[in-house]
Amino acid sequence: MSALHVALTTSEQYNAPALATFPPNIMSTPIRWRHDRPAPRRPRPEARPLSVIKSALGEMARVAFAEPFMLAIERQQIYLRRLPKPLDGLRIVQLSDLHFGPIVNPRHLERAIEAANDLRPDLIALTGDYISHDRSYAAPCAELVGRLRARHGVFAVLGNHDHWTDAALIADLFRAEGITVLLNEGMRLDLNGESFWLSGVNDTMVGLEDLPLALAGSGENEMKLLLAHNPIILRRAARAGVDLVLSGHTHGGQVTLRPEKNRSGRPRRRLLRGLGRRGNTQIYVTRGLGTVVLPIRYGCPPEVSMLELRSIS
Ligand SMILES: [Fe+2]
Repeated sequence: MSALHVALTTSEQYNAPALATFPPNIMSTPIRWRHDRPAPRRPRPEARPLSVIKSALGEMARVAFAEPFMLAIERQQIYLRRLPKPLDGLRIVQLSDLHFGPIVNPRHLERAIEAANDLRPDLIALTGDYISHDRSYAAPCAELVGRLRARHGVFAVLGNHDHWTDAALIADLFRAEGITVLLNEGMRLDLNGESFWLSGVNDTMVGLEDLPLALAGSGENEMKLLLAHNPIILRRAARAGVDLVLSGHTHGGQVTLRPEKNRSGRPRRRLLRGLGRRGNTQIYVTRGLGTVVLPIRYGCPPEVSMLELRSIS
């Protein structure tokens, strides 16, 4: 009997050498052994949420880098008890926080200036932070805001970034462009025989705010409008009998992930944007135009504010 014949006589003898030629892991996987179609590939259950998070973050990043180039015109009516009736409907355009510098596109600021002029305002209020850290941007910024046109003038205060760069240079350049810079000072603005007190404070963060000085000379029952870069002044403005404060500084948060109102439907305690009130004093906080730290915005696009003052009488 040959060796081959012996091998074919019993299954044990037949299978033993054949099994030895296959790796044990393949042999023990029945689906591979008997199927004739590929097994469907299913994602591992833990991989799906990760991919959803990844794509959501990618979308957020795309929006965040695009939003600084957007421009929203925010229209807000503000009702004021002491605004003389003949001045009902007075239109103020407010611009703030241009942050002219390497991370803000000058074309974006030009569009904002053009939009402000197209609104044909009675007054323009500029509420600070025109440049960020580099004084070489002061002159081009002044040239840009010098293009603003309003029937009764353009008025400005300075912000913390202006002080951290070169406040005196910016104030001088702005004045050379015909802009009235109000640094702890005020004036009675006469418009068609009616008047109110228009004032501005120097920046709070650098310790130069002097509100009593800005209001010195105003009448007790006169309507008082205050330009102040930092909205933190609201409590003091309310005590001093200011009717309306116009502020910037917050950039609306610049990146906001939380809704503006809390779960009970009330506005959050710290006012980052829009119209607020303390007692008889109202405040409008604009989101501004530029960015700081990173060239991103999320949930608060740049803003040109169109404020219409209404008389309550
Ligand atoms: Fe700012």
